[in-house]
Amino acid sequence: QFDRAIRPLSLEEYIGQPVVRDQMGLFMQAARQRNEALDHTLIFGPPGLGKTTLANIIATEMGVSLKSTSGPVLERAGDLAALLTNLNEGDVLFIDEIHRLPPVVEEVLYPAMEDFQLDIMIGEGPAARSIKLDLPPFTLVGATTRAGMLTNPLRDRFGIVQRLEFYSHGDLSRIVERAAGILGMPIDPEGAFEIARRSRGTPRIANRLLRRVRDFAQVRGTGEISRAIADQALNMLDVDELGLDHQDRRLLLTMMEKFDGGPVGLDNLAAAISEERHTIEDVLEPYLIQQGYIMRTPRGRVVTRHAWLHFGLPVPRDQNQPD
Ligand code: ADE
Repeated sequence: QFDRAIRPLSLEEYIGQPVVRDQMGLFMQAARQRNEALDHTLIFGPPGLGKTTLANIIATEMGVSLKSTSGPVLERAGDLAALLTNLNEGDVLFIDEIHRLPPVVEEVLYPAMEDFQLDIMIGEGPAARSIKLDLPPFTLVGATTRAGMLTNPLRDRFGIVQRLEFYSHGDLSRIVERAAGILGMPIDPEGAFEIARRSRGTPRIANRLLRRVRDFAQVRGTGEISRAIADQALNMLDVDELGLDHQDRRLLLTMMEKFDGGPVGLDNLAAAISEERHTIEDVLEPYLIQQGYIMRTPRGRVVTRHAWLHFGLPVPRDQNQPD
């Protein structure tokens, strides 16, 4: 209920992602003026940056309903057919983790997206029949952590592709202040900025840390979230000065201490920290790469000078490092 209360419902309330906001505002206005469904839209980016929020905003702004599902939930062609045949004209069908759609389901999606045609086989063996149905024009909104994981034919069928970026400290700070305001938490601008600065550029993390800092402020302070209270709370939560959490530090330290800073392959790294390779690729790495702690090279992952320095470790001389 916390997340529902603070989730922005219109583009107007949506903070940050200026490129996405400008483009989507324009494309939606154009589609509305022509009385058409918005083109199919692919949203990609790391977890927690607002892919689902944006899908909901699209439906609200277009004045249509949203039906929501996810790639792994759609096991058979019939699962998708059931959703498609329940859409009204212009509706949004949101498929989260669309890169995990089984191939048999993906094949049903192609003609549905391209020609608003449902084309499926029912029954088996000699009794099998193919049925074709016209669908109302609709908007597919697909979300994925990495666009590279989509098959080419699927990616090619999206007329609009939006990439969500990590948020700036300033934008995240406004998101924290907005959430605190809605929930009636007393916070000063420096307190909000301290939370923003240490949230890995990610609103979902900022909003989660805000709740924990509020707990800390309530029990150990006066309830008011100041910079000092935020700092103490985040230290207790094991979020370091640069916003790296326990998992981030474990990944970087393992690369430095067990693999001499790399290059190390993803599978070796996954085994060394007992983490799924997908979690490393989708959740941990994107921010560490964006912040310049890790590089991807053809021979594997390498930590940068920046990482050695952050941990106060001597930078190996033999390493081929940028700058
Ligand atoms: N809450 C989470 N993400 C947000 C955003 N981009 N704008 C406003 N509030 C948010």
